[in-house]
Amino acid sequence: MTTETKNISEPENLLRGEEKYLDNALRPSKWDDYIGQTTIKENLKILLGAAKARGQTPEHILFYGPPGLGKTTLAHLLARENNSQLKVTSGPAIEKVGDLASLLTNLSAGDILFIDEIHRLNKLIEEILYPAMEAGNLNIIIGKGPSARTIQLDLPPFTLIAATTRIALLSSPLRSRFSGGTFRLEFYTTPEIETIIARSAAILGVIIEPNAITEIAKRSRSTPRIANHLLKRCRDFAQVNNTTINLETVMKTLRLLSIDEAGLSYSDRKIIETIIDKFAGGPVGLGTIGAATSEEEETIEEINEPYLIQLGFLERTPRGRLATQKAYDHMGKIKGPAKDTRPTSQRLL
Ligand code: ADE
Repeated sequence: MTTETKNISEPENLLRGEEKYLDNALRPSKWDDYIGQTTIKENLKILLGAAKARGQTPEHILFYGPPGLGKTTLAHLLARENNSQLKVTSGPAIEKVGDLASLLTNLSAGDILFIDEIHRLNKLIEEILYPAMEAGNLNIIIGKGPSARTIQLDLPPFTLIAATTRIALLSSPLRSRFSGGTFRLEFYTTPEIETIIARSAAILGVIIEPNAITEIAKRSRSTPRIANHLLKRCRDFAQVNNTTINLETVMKTLRLLSIDEAGLSYSDRKIIETIIDKFAGGPVGLGTIGAATSEEEETIEEINEPYLIQLGFLERTPRGRLATQKAYDHMGKIKGPAKDTRPTSQRLL
């Protein structure tokens, strides 16, 4: 059985009722329905199978990678395959030591605790997690000053599954405690995304033509969450216009959503255009790009950059971000001579 704590992760909280229901309906509930990430799946099956054979709970697991690639989905799937109860929360939802203590003491033997966005967990709270993960102990300090004392509670055996889009922000003591493994989710291939779209369309009960599937897949940033989102928007467009999801429906829907042939959004294009037009293609620092585009640095780094790098449109160099020839070609721009960015005093006369 899968339950959610009320500290459900923020992005999911923002989903309206129907949208959330659909997202849950589209979530694969068996290994065979989970497309792609083959090596991770194989590793997890072994981890789960071996723990079961020993009569133990699986060791703690960390998933990382760009948003929308299926980290939460994998946690739900693991819980279901292991017949475990899943408690879902997120780093920013755990505000006080007491929040984590309450989550941990309410676990039953064999439960899985899923902490999304674990990189946003407060460092003081993180320290409570260490003994809980390592020895199944919860150390709580009662009182203040000289009369303060620590009491130690034994926790039932549980598995922590954590997810992050920013592995570099995790402290090494925390990282090292995921003894079951740390797994990086990769972008999906176009055929994998096509399979996911076809499966989702069948669950939603909508008719979709094969070339419409291919077109949505091409523009989904190699990301299942975006593929499902675009499918739902195309379904809405088809419904309002009394048609099926065909290539024309997809083209019109995506034009309305400002998503281009490579799957770039308005903000992706703005970032690339700014690097090319204002900084002669770079290299230019992330902070400068953020200021020039009015986008948050964190959003650029987490959402825009991974896909732009994956497409080969952007390079990260020690001196900053660089737009590639491919980016110029995509934006229909001509590369000019490299700009001399040295201070005037250092330039040769
Ligand atoms: N939804 C999100 N990730 C998925 C995957 N890998 N396979 C099928 N559906 C998904």
